Amino acid sequence: MGIEVKDLLSIHDLSTKEINDILDLAKTLKTQLKNGEQHHLLKGKTLGMIFQKASTRTRVSFEVGMWQLGGAALFLNANDMQIGRGEPVKDTARVLSRYVDGIMIRTFSHDEVIELAQFATIPVINALTDLMHPCQALTDIFTVLEHKGRLQGLKMVYIGDGNNMVNSLLQACAKVGMDISIATPKGYEPDAAIVAEALTVAAETGSKIVLCEDPLEAAKDADVLYTDVWASMGKEIEQEDRREVFVNYQINQNVMNVAKKDAIVLHCLPAHRGEEITEEVLESKQSVVFDQAENRLHVQKAIMVLLMGK
Ligand code: CP
Ligand code: NVA
Repeated sequence: MGIEVKDLLSIHDLSTKEINDILDLAKTLKTQLKNGEQHHLLKGKTLGMIFQKASTRTRVSFEVGMWQLGGAALFLNANDMQIGRGEPVKDTARVLSRYVDGIMIRTFSHDEVIELAQFATIPVINALTDLMHPCQALTDIFTVLEHKGRLQGLKMVYIGDGNNMVNSLLQACAKVGMDISIATPKGYEPDAAIVAEALTVAAETGSKIVLCEDPLEAAKDADVLYTDVWASMGKEIEQEDRREVFVNYQINQNVMNVAKKDAIVLHCLPAHRGEEITEEVLESKQSVVFDQAENRLHVQKAIMVLLMGK
């Protein structure tokens, strides 16, 4: 059990076995927590958490996770740090490496995270960039596994914006052999390089990847339905225009009717009811979004142990 790479920047950097190791350890840690068994696997270690964007789940789950592992976490608002006043990323990386044992970062530019990892001598965890959200997508497949008992051969359907979330889901599905159909409006497709890379991986694992524009065509026989906000953080200015473009890209009862009867519904949250998902579907029995939110804790603990406990 282990992860060869120093950092978790992208799911594409992980092998299928490493992904399975993360999922296995997350399950063990979740069971131990539920049984009240202590697991101080990162005793005395510290995690610096740099936030350039807002967060509820990521911040709380990483911070609580570190505590449960016997370590401590520091919330570092980028605007209160010198990095927010122009101190180079490469200097921040080397300074933090002298104090803490791991860095978690949420920011805009993916390249900034790559640079941080390059200069840091300690593990760096990507907690969302404009391009990817790997911790969330790993949590999502963990949640599917919990509810469905398997991943291979299942069909995930994503309806909405071709954003960071779907980019990471594509990478995750390709690696674990899960099919994924994605419906986005023209001009809002997932990142082309990530699609190309995922198609290559999928050819080996047997995952089927379909990109289309029609949400109902995509949703047919879905085992898992997924959506995310129409305007991600940083795109607020486009919110009004996007409301028009995305009006048909909603998980609603019509979509549920063409999916499998036992399909589950996922959303990384926060959700905009009445936009990408209806209140009815989000609050339905098929929606497992709060299990999914909880699982961020267990999966990220596994990631931290495997990266920082080496
Ligand atoms: N899903 C997710 O990353 O939530 P937060 O923005 O609240 O961290
Ligand atoms: N795509 C969303 C995910 C939030 C967790 C965003 O980037 O704002």
